[in-house]
Amino acid sequence: MPELPFSIPLSSEAFQSHAELRHVQRRLSDLVDHFTDHSASNDILTDSNPLVYEYWEREYEGTSQGISFGMTRIHPGQVGNEYYLTKGHFHADDYGDEIHITLSGQGLLLLFNKDGSCQTFEMLADKMNYLPGNLAHRTINTGSTPLVFVGFWPPKIIHDYETILQNGFPKLVIAGPEGPELVNNLNFKI
Ligand SMILES: [Fe+2]
Repeated sequence: MPELPFSIPLSSEAFQSHAELRHVQRRLSDLVDHFTDHSASNDILTDSNPLVYEYWEREYEGTSQGISFGMTRIHPGQVGNEYYLTKGHFHADDYGDEIHITLSGQGLLLLFNKDGSCQTFEMLADKMNYLPGNLAHRTINTGSTPLVFVGFWPPKIIHDYETILQNGFPKLVIAGPEGPELVNNLNFKI
């Protein structure tokens, strides 16, 4: 944990070199159950285990003070026709709104309401997205360069990754002939 106050440039290089931020890497082997095309995953994993995304964060969990933040870098790539993505999660008790500011690359923020509806917001450099704490969220790199964004969220959020792992999102973002397409996820469990 960096001592407060502190200052840091908004670049992945600066976050990457800050030893006191928690660094987490997610490789394809960590994400096989989040992609729908298991045969494509297995094909890739026979040769390599690519880094799909990584983040550097400072999270306030056991205190009611502070603002959690993190920088995420999703690498460009696909598993089958599905773009590289983050696991995605709900916030337990629907608590905790979140702000994302995209720094570079291009992608989509996929939001999922418990009533089954989905919507997407573009992630483009210098664009901010605000999401309320009751919507599950996942970020997807639809471009050919890393998608880098910084996020801010309040303390004491409990992240629910398990519901998404078990049920998925109702929609997938895939590479279509003319670019990204939002399609139904046939494996989604209500
Ligand atoms: Fe979140």
